[in-house]
Amino acid sequence: MSTGSRLLARAVSTGARFLPDKAPDPLRRAHRHLGKPLDRVDGRAKVTGQARFSAEFRPKDLAHAAVVTSTIAKGRIRSIGTAAAQQAAGVLAVITHENTPTMKPPPAVPPFSSGEQVKGTAASDLPVFGDAMIHWNGQSVAVVVAETLEQAEYAASLVHVEYDVQPARLSFDALKSTASAPYDALGDPPHVEIGHAESALAQAAVAVDHVYRTPRHNHNAMEPHATIAVWDEHGSLTLYDSTQYVYGVKDTLSAVFSLDPGKVRVIAQYVGGSFGGKGNVWDNTILCAAAAKAVGRPVQLALSREAVFRLVGGRAPSEQRVALGAAPDGRLRAIIHTALNPTVEHGPHADAITAPARHSYAAEHILIDQRIVFLDTLANTAMRGPGPSVGSFALESAMDELAYELRLDPLELRRINEPTKDPTSGHPFSSRHFMEAFDGGAQQFGWQQRTPCSQRDGQWLIGQGVAAAQYHVVRFPAVVRVRINADGTALVQTSAQDNGMGTATVQIQHAAERLGLPVENVRFEYGDTILPKSAPAGASNQAVALVQATRDACEKVQREILSLARNGSGGPFAGVRLDHLEARDGGLFRIDDKRGETYVAILKRRDRAWIEAQAGSGLPFEMMKYSMHSYGMHFCEVRVHEETGEVRISRWLGSFDCGRILNAKLATSQFRGGIIMGIGAALMEETLFDERSGRIVNPSLAEYHVPVHLDVPDIDIIYTDIPDEHTAAGAHGIGEIGITGVSAAIANAVFNATGKRIRELPITLDKLL
Ligand code: MOS
Repeated sequence: MSTGSRLLARAVSTGARFLPDKAPDPLRRAHRHLGKPLDRVDGRAKVTGQARFSAEFRPKDLAHAAVVTSTIAKGRIRSIGTAAAQQAAGVLAVITHENTPTMKPPPAVPPFSSGEQVKGTAASDLPVFGDAMIHWNGQSVAVVVAETLEQAEYAASLVHVEYDVQPARLSFDALKSTASAPYDALGDPPHVEIGHAESALAQAAVAVDHVYRTPRHNHNAMEPHATIAVWDEHGSLTLYDSTQYVYGVKDTLSAVFSLDPGKVRVIAQYVGGSFGGKGNVWDNTILCAAAAKAVGRPVQLALSREAVFRLVGGRAPSEQRVALGAAPDGRLRAIIHTALNPTVEHGPHADAITAPARHSYAAEHILIDQRIVFLDTLANTAMRGPGPSVGSFALESAMDELAYELRLDPLELRRINEPTKDPTSGHPFSSRHFMEAFDGGAQQFGWQQRTPCSQRDGQWLIGQGVAAAQYHVVRFPAVVRVRINADGTALVQTSAQDNGMGTATVQIQHAAERLGLPVENVRFEYGDTILPKSAPAGASNQAVALVQATRDACEKVQREILSLARNGSGGPFAGVRLDHLEARDGGLFRIDDKRGETYVAILKRRDRAWIEAQAGSGLPFEMMKYSMHSYGMHFCEVRVHEETGEVRISRWLGSFDCGRILNAKLATSQFRGGIIMGIGAALMEETLFDERSGRIVNPSLAEYHVPVHLDVPDIDIIYTDIPDEHTAAGAHGIGEIGITGVSAAIANAVFNATGKRIRELPITLDKLL
């Protein structure tokens, strides 16, 4: 994500445009392990409770913390009464801005920025407990540390805060006229203009021009944010933290506590979901370390579900205009997509809302514009498909509206406007087989049977809808170390995070394929800053980043093994290069005459216990030359009750083109998970924000609705599985494409069923009555 422009700017300055392409990866078509539906290697540990999440470590003398949060949006703490809390049973300390350990303001960087120049990933640069100022309703004002969690929470309820209230900016609508351009939109330039879109729109034979709105969303990963902080007698800090980026936490905490980075270790072995909510460092992690420092004991700060709403930002609401102008034959002449979202001055962030309009359809005239409005709230951040998931609601709804105006099948409209090169950058696509995904999906779903107006089953109106999905391929620099042991096992090490996606499983599969070993012989160590620096788990980049670094590390280690094997002896390897060999059966074997040797034999013969190599994947030069995206087409059927307006999803097919699929089972699960999250965004998910007080009024899963089993139909997933010649193993990221386009597919199906066009999410009953 925010990678995008910054990494590319560096790539340009180093002349990436002129670098020759790497030869396509021979493993892009390998099928021994890659592609197989291998079960999660940590599945058993998770379902039997053996897997330990951040809040489940039990260092000796562990104390528990609870936070007190502000009840005003803006102002100053006049007084903070902590005496009652301090006297409560079990309380060790009550920490406020008046007695906090010294901390520097955290370095704020948009989520998932990466690279040497980036030091820290805080969501906000406000000093934590640095002064008496309040910047949002829900900001932490005190931390209570006690022997037990219950004691800490009870004592927190006794802290009494008096405020001097100041006027706050809380209404997105009222402040729209103050909109300004953001620095970037998650790496994309905020403004792009090709041709004269407004005049082309005015002259177009057929046009649609509408405003679409999406609401504020909050993060609700299954595992709420949790940290355990342990300081040792030498002033070193160890954190068990539920994060998407252990090195980001390490850099942030070393900056805040003025520590040499070597003195901070961050461990995130198991993480129960994240979706962008754990991509930044939020105040809870910093406060946990401060609390542990203050009491001189290990401290756990596990946020309650409500505290996650108060301390951890989510997806900003959006207001978008999409205007499309077409010739009578359906050819697009003009695409206009403008988007506005609120953010904060202490951590400005604009999602890539207009990304789909930049890369999806051919048109001579394109106008893209993103703006931001500043409010006094918690910082907003990335949330699965940050930008495209809500941007596609507007664009793909508009495509449906245009198809209706043109009396064209909505799939045909997309076929007519399929671009041959990236519509805004002009770059060739690295791998785009959108039409294959679309045709395969239409056939399997039975799209041809759809009628232009609704069908009926008793009181249920039935309709079908489609929408396209598109999400960029990103690759952050990552370093991986690979060791081959004399017993024929291998160890792959990198600081990567497995937040439930299946990182460990896929990387084991990949290394086994690369090295010619059975998967049982490969171990993957991750989630710890004592390991080589991996990419953050975000922007759907991690699998591709690690596969590339692992490929290079495996190649290095195999070269060393080859030279070790050849050293002083003719043997089977005399005069051959690595590319004359294949890795199989636990060793290297000649492709021509099949002679070779196992790793065990080579290492034993040379009396070596192991041999290892490390490689970094470096900057994503390929992104300079190619427009790289994952694609998909959603097909859905809805049933809308004509009297109550209730919407039920009855069928779903997601058809994807995301390069080579590395694990059939995990990929299908990722796509399904994205679609389910999208169903929530389409039909129910919404943060209720009180514009008078700045308070989130539904901070619990009882009132903040997400889909449950009965809301979700069987979801069929198919994919093209066509490797990208320009990525390692031919893979693309798949973590976020699933949610993209989902709400438009549902809105389009609802229109087909009812004739009602809903341009504001979520599509609740009231909007259909
Ligand atoms: Mo994500 S929103 O890149 O975790």
